[in-house]
Parts: sequence; structure tokens; C-alpha cells
Amino acid sequence: MTAQDPLAKIAEDILRENDRGSYTVPTKGLYPFQWNWDSCLTALGQRHYDEARAWTEIETLFAHQWPCGMVPHIIFHLYDDGYFPGPEVWSTGRPVPTSGITQPAVAGFALRRLFDRASNRAEAEARVRALLPKVAAWHRWFFATRDPKGEGLVAIIHPWESGRDNSIDWDVSFERVPTEGIAPYTRRDTQHANPEHRPTKAQYDRYLWLVEHFRSLGWDTAKLHDASPFQVVDPGFNAILLRACADLADLAEALGEPALAAENRAFAARGLAALERLWSVEHGQYLCGDRTTGALIDSASVGGLLAAFAAIPPARAQAIAASIEAHGARFRVPSHAPADPRFDAKRYWRGPVWLVVNYMIADGLARAGQTAAAAAITRSSLDLIHESGFAEYYDPTTGEPLGGGRFTWTAAMVLEFLAMERA
Ligand code: DGY
Repeated sequence: MTAQDPLAKIAEDILRENDRGSYTVPTKGLYPFQWNWDSCLTALGQRHYDEARAWTEIETLFAHQWPCGMVPHIIFHLYDDGYFPGPEVWSTGRPVPTSGITQPAVAGFALRRLFDRASNRAEAEARVRALLPKVAAWHRWFFATRDPKGEGLVAIIHPWESGRDNSIDWDVSFERVPTEGIAPYTRRDTQHANPEHRPTKAQYDRYLWLVEHFRSLGWDTAKLHDASPFQVVDPGFNAILLRACADLADLAEALGEPALAAENRAFAARGLAALERLWSVEHGQYLCGDRTTGALIDSASVGGLLAAFAAIPPARAQAIAASIEAHGARFRVPSHAPADPRFDAKRYWRGPVWLVVNYMIADGLARAGQTAAAAAITRSSLDLIHESGFAEYYDPTTGEPLGGGRFTWTAAMVLEFLAMERA
């Protein structure tokens, strides 16, 4: 792509600036390694100016897949003491150090998007063909280890897995996570970003207790679900996985891999049916389920709106579009319903707008025929960039840029939103 739009030019500059050759850091300082879902969404931006580089981003991530199929949420390629918790805390024993938990499985969707829109067809086919069994192994791992009773939906066992670290969704279940006995630590995130806009110390204590607990179990991913006091079924996380399963099934079919296609088609169908149990008529959106109690969690977060990314029933997509409209925030889509007294416009995932979730919600709503709602999210996202630059997240009421600056996936999403508007 020739970067004619001034916004596209800045977006491309940011992506190149954060590019470390075969992977991209989310932003300098705050996040100096490769993050799983960041990378997959980053590739969608890179495709606009360098298709080959976009494939490499995802290949690098999968080069660090664990033998069990799990794809870790962080790959610590190069030593950097600017981030905590670093490789010595995780201590997963991998040849190149990684964390020991995973993140939203957006890779299958990203592959499909790269493949469908590729101009170099031969390269796209060769590179997808090599990645297909790896992504399929990850999906298989999810259902084997995170859905042990075969309910059709997977649980996260650490809030960092959702990517929505400090969402209000986790507050009640998180109370069950103890903090006794954790090693003393110094946070580094609050040296790079305003502590008022980051998770609290009480939350960090629990994040670390879970890490130390899983580490004490030798990072055996077959044991961690049952051993975790935190098991939450997040509709957004599941919708991303189910969309990825459906997209991977389509790719497998196109490339003559019928067994992988059938397996992923079945995961998607079973999961979509199970997702219905999380629908809330009262909130007009899906809610998280607490697997340890079996109860729905009364928290209207963006996780339940993100469910629109999967092929949910059209009436559900319509209700989600209406719920977003009813938020009435100046910028869409707040990560928590502004009418909820727990809403916090500036604190990370308890209110601020994130462009990556906007992108996935807009994509899903457009597919479901909610084109006006999708266009409104796209426009609002670009307005935010015009007004406030390429931040990590934004206050939905004022547009104030928050968290890290010159943020990679924000830049990638801008290139995608610009393409959506052109289309
Ligand atoms: C962090 O450190 O803030 C991350 O979100 C954990 O992956």
C-alpha cells in the first residue's frame, strides 16, 4: 500500500519503529517482548505495506508453541529488565523463555484475513499450509485442557489470558485467589504509565499468586485448569476462539485438509450453541460465567459485546448493536457499560476504549448485517486517532489518550479501519 492518508503514514511509521525484525513489540518500554494476540492483530496492519513481513509475525509466534499445543502469551526474545514479571518469574524452562499462560486465539482469524486479502497467492498458500496444523493443535489444546467436561466453551485461568487484565468481570471470582506467601516484587509498568490508569496492587498480588501457583505445578498445562481457583468462561475470549475455529475450517477446506476442517467446524458449532447460556436479556449482551460456581457474573463489559465477532444469532447481534448505542459514550466502545457505578473511564479495561476490540466488534456486526453500527464504530475509532493520536487506550468520555504511546496494535487497527472505510 502506498501510505497516502496522513494517518496511514503515521501508522506505518509506528509499526516499523516497533518492528524487531521477525516480531513486533507492542510499544517501547512498557511492553518490550512479543505478545500473542498483539502480534496476530499487528500482522493485519503489516499486510498493508509488506505482506511477507505479516506472515513472519505469526510464524515467529508459532515457532514458540509448546509441545502440548499451547501458544504462550509472551515470548521473551531478548533480555529486558524494564518489564515485570520477566522470564525468571515465569521460569517455564522453554529454550527461548516464554510465559506459561495463553491469550485470545485470534491467529486463525488473522490467517484467514491475510490469506483472503493476499496479493501474492502462491506465498499465502504456502505460508498458511505450514501454519494450519499448528493453529489446529492450539485449538485442540484449548478444548482438551480448558473444557475438561466438554461443555463447548473454554475457561481462562488467569485474567491476563483474556487480555482484559483488570476487567470488572473478574472482581468477584478474583476474591477467591489468595495472596499469602507471594515473593516480594517491584512493578515496572507503573514506571512507564500512570499508575492511576493501570491495575491496582491488590490485583497484581493475585496475578502473581496465580503465576507462582502454576509454576509450583511445573507448568503442566493438563493440570492447571482444575488447580486454579480462578476459572471464568469469558464470552469475548470464546467468541474469538470460535471465530478462529470457523475461519480455520474454511482455510483447511480450501487447502484440502478435510479432517482439520471437520474438527474445527465441530468446535465452532458446539461452542456457538453453548454460548447461548451466557446471554442476558436484562443487559442485552452476553455475560461471563464463573465455572467454579456455575453462576453468571453480573458485569456488562465489552467481553459480552465482543461475542458479536463469532457467528451469533442475528437477533443477538442486533441487540448488541442497540446496547452499544445505548451506552451513549462520546467514543465507542467503552470496555465497560458507563451506567454501571463500577465504570472507571481511565483505568485500563474498566472503562476505556481499545481499538482492537472495536475492530473485532465492528467486523462481527458488519458480517451480521448491522452495517450502520459497524460504520459508527469505525468512524468513532478514527475520530479518536485524529483527536488523540496512537495511544494504547482512551477515555471514552473525553477521548484522552491513556497508557503507552505510539502503540503497535492501535496503528495496525488504524490501517484496517481505513481500509474498511474505503471499502
Ligand atoms: C501486562 O503486563 O500488563 C500484560 O497485560 C500481561 O500480559
